Amino acid sequence: MLNIALPKGRLGETVYDLFERAGFDCPSIREKSRKLIFENEKTGVRFFWVKPSDVPIYVERGAADIGVAGKDIILEYDPDVYELLDLKLGKCRMAVAAKKDFHDENVKTLRVATKFPNIASSYYERIGRDIDIIKLNGSIELAPILGLSDVIVDIVETGTTLRENDLEVKAEILPISARLIANKSSFRFADKEIGRIADKMKELVTLND
Ligand code: PRP
Repeated sequence: MLNIALPKGRLGETVYDLFERAGFDCPSIREKSRKLIFENEKTGVRFFWVKPSDVPIYVERGAADIGVAGKDIILEYDPDVYELLDLKLGKCRMAVAAKKDFHDENVKTLRVATKFPNIASSYYERIGRDIDIIKLNGSIELAPILGLSDVIVDIVETGTTLRENDLEVKAEILPISARLIANKSSFRFADKEIGRIADKMKELVTLND
């Protein structure tokens, strides 16, 4: 059995569709239930739903042989795994955003609210700007509105959350998409099985591109 960690939520459903189209289906996963693990002996796969930011932990520690995680999560946690393939799904961007009338005068330390302190720190280090990180766990857009921070570093997908809260993108940091990742020793010992899945998915991704 190959253990596969899928990110719970909308991205996970799309990612499972891709596994199914690649021939690694597991019909029980489609049934409405609160179950977290699903397996199909015929195709030799066992899927489990994991909180998206936990996928790299499962894969790094070998509880999952492979998994799917956003590039944002991979950059933030820097897990010791192989990144096999860009699935070109869940596309969005990491950006700096702030209130429309905010201009960084570069006179005092910039207060940055974010769920991604490592990505934010390395971005500002690269451009040589002093910052104070305020680590939050969600609803990041509130921070500049309430004066908790000057800017935010966050994911922008459709831009709706920013728009509806009168914020705007001030700088793009990097494009994000979902990646297929593998545990390093699983990749050595189950290279055929993992290779088969990765190759088939690559074909489908290229067709869609
Ligand atoms: C993410 C992100 C933004 C929003 C961007 O939040 O942090 O708030 O999605 O999407 P949009 O550009 O399409 O509006 P998420 O929904 O994960 O919730 P969170 O606030 O709990 O982080």
